[in-house]
Amino acid sequence: MKLFEVVLLSFSLSGLLFRQRKNKQDNKDAHLPRHVAIIMDGNGRWAARRRLPRTAGHYAGMTALRRIVRCASELGIAVLTVYAFSTENWTRPKEEVDFLMKLPQEFLEVDLPELKRNNVRVKLSGNPGGLPSHTREAVETAVAETANNTGMVLNFALNYGGRDEIVRAVRKIAAAVAEGTVKPEEIDEEFFNKFLYTADLPDPDLLIRCSGEIRLSNFLLWQLAYAELWFTDVYWPDFNKQHFMAAIEAYRKRDRRFGGVRP
Ligand code: FPP
Repeated sequence: MKLFEVVLLSFSLSGLLFRQRKNKQDNKDAHLPRHVAIIMDGNGRWAARRRLPRTAGHYAGMTALRRIVRCASELGIAVLTVYAFSTENWTRPKEEVDFLMKLPQEFLEVDLPELKRNNVRVKLSGNPGGLPSHTREAVETAVAETANNTGMVLNFALNYGGRDEIVRAVRKIAAAVAEGTVKPEEIDEEFFNKFLYTADLPDPDLLIRCSGEIRLSNFLLWQLAYAELWFTDVYWPDFNKQHFMAAIEAYRKRDRRFGGVRP
């Protein structure tokens, strides 16, 4: 990056930080994404580079998550969705899966008091039925204890798969049609959306993926239809506030037309 670009970015970011307090109250800055979704990728490679076990990468990933949750909440982001475990991740070695399933508990044991103080509402998107009871209970406790909070929604995509979510929605709607409580012509996008885990959330405006991979990996397939995509080579455990702000800054420069044209 050239010197003048660094200066420009710093000016821009300081303007954004200046508005943090205001955004926290009303979140009406049209240039700030309301919903940011993150694919926290690269934990394994981060660990391999350091000759550490993959689990060390996931643990460092949890620390990065802590940083970014704090930063997003301070900035006034309304929803932060993080891809913590996919329906495909069960195929990983048992030791790694067991470790990953302990992380929500560990994270929430330490962070729940701070999340509560910061008015953050915890949400789960994914199939809770497939989770070990200790993982499910930790998340469900956090969901219950933050249910009345009105600040940022921290949405854990856990045992989540985009196709699985869509198939589940279709099954429910098909059952309602078979019962006669829903007519096929009543099914439109808005109706369908109500059957997704994210029914109560706005669609993501910005998707961040770390580690150099440029794909969606079955994440929020329906919801990301019009999201702006931002990719970085940085491995998730190294992802910090500066990277997050760079993604927000890139988003602010995008021209979103949603398939239309500028008037
Ligand atoms: C993908 O990296 C990452 C995951 C499958 C797990 C993400 C989980 C965390 C960041 C910890 C989250 C913490 C809580 C509290 C839920 P990878 O393992 O596929 O990395 P690689 O592609 O380099 O192997």
